[in-house]
Amino acid sequence: MSLKGKHIVLGVTGSIAAYKSALLTRLLIKKGAEVQIVITPAGKEFITPVTLSALSGKPVISEFFASGDGTWHSHVDLGLWADLMIVAPATASTLGKMAHGIADNMLITTYLSMKAPVFAAPAMDLDMFRHVTTQRNLEILRKDGVQIIEPAEGELASHLEGKGRMEEPEKIAAILEKFFTQGTELDKIKILITAGPTYERIDPVRFIGNFSSGKMGFALAEECAARGAEVLLITGPSSLSLSHPRIRRVNVESAREMHAAALQAFPGMNAAILSAAVADYRPETVAEHKIKRTEGEGITLTLTPNPDIAAALGAMKRADQLLIGFALETDDEEPNALRKMEKKKLDFIVLNSLRDKGAGFGHDTNKVTILSRNGEKQSFELQTKRETAKEIIDTVFIGDGHLSRISCS
Ligand code: PMT
Repeated sequence: MSLKGKHIVLGVTGSIAAYKSALLTRLLIKKGAEVQIVITPAGKEFITPVTLSALSGKPVISEFFASGDGTWHSHVDLGLWADLMIVAPATASTLGKMAHGIADNMLITTYLSMKAPVFAAPAMDLDMFRHVTTQRNLEILRKDGVQIIEPAEGELASHLEGKGRMEEPEKIAAILEKFFTQGTELDKIKILITAGPTYERIDPVRFIGNFSSGKMGFALAEECAARGAEVLLITGPSSLSLSHPRIRRVNVESAREMHAAALQAFPGMNAAILSAAVADYRPETVAEHKIKRTEGEGITLTLTPNPDIAAALGAMKRADQLLIGFALETDDEEPNALRKMEKKKLDFIVLNSLRDKGAGFGHDTNKVTILSRNGEKQSFELQTKRETAKEIIDTVFIGDGHLSRISCS
């Protein structure tokens, strides 16, 4: 009864895979969950509400008002009641409506009122699934915090073979179970994460910066929050967005602003992960007006060192706090990373090298080696930044029993 007492809203839409939602309902109930089904008008063409209400033990909701007595079905109440919402099967149409907030049926209004985490298991023909529009909508939903359960490959309703089959109910139930057990691993843990580049102003229109996109730090923030942590994300300029309710985002521009925000927050944190690419130097003076170009003449900028945020946090770190830094290297990687870990008093350092294709700045992927103060070393293959974030969290918090050290205060 691993889902005992969990309130799950199951959204069913108009796909041939709707028959699988009956099996999913049974599995969730067997594992102890209470299931409230919300079905779209098209969903009812594929499976009857009678079947679903018999399995869930609750009337299936489809319309805004009950046809008999005109009672209003409150999507707001459902949003508060649920511990989790899953849309399975999720058609291309429903995914599009979710991504753009087109609230023309009860399922979408419920989604828009949802306070709990949302999952979606797409089901459609392979060409519809790989269409740029569907992929764009899925990307929007991922950024909005919806967890997409990838469809499987196999024979589709069209008799074509390819990716688009809704994942099997047993696997979906297992994913939801894992979510509830795993989602609490970092419960009550407060984690500070720095991300992105810093911009150091030269004049009102120019700055010194670097190529960091923020992807690595944002992936860490999402992963920590998904596992139950309260995250404070201090980020330099980045076009990325996130919406997890357990992530508080503070935007800064320069290294000095990031330094001030991090130092102020750190005493109240259990851990800090410093993935930002902080400018080591800034112009000594910032011109008040735009520096004019003078034909044939160069200009000289004098740079002055910025504060080292990692070293400052290392110096003030308590025994019940964990400090994890990154090292971005181009040569002599491991010795440089070890030196940085020592100098900045870090517990772990995550090394990525610009010599590895697909690693470092801007990519959706990274390839890292995690080095610990105790002399341990773990190297990982090239994988997405979210997967890299998972490995980092598993290594620094779950492995080695560090979690009990930082959470016992
Ligand atoms: O943002 P992305 O495009 O996803 O790219 C990710 C990344 C490449 C930026 C990230 O994976 C990474 O490697 N971040 C650290 C980059 C860096 O500045 O490394 P460093 O070796 O110069 O710094 C070592 C450590 O000290 C880092 O934890 C850094 O945050 C910290 N530092 C550095 C300078 C400074 N003044 N203050 C600091 O806190």
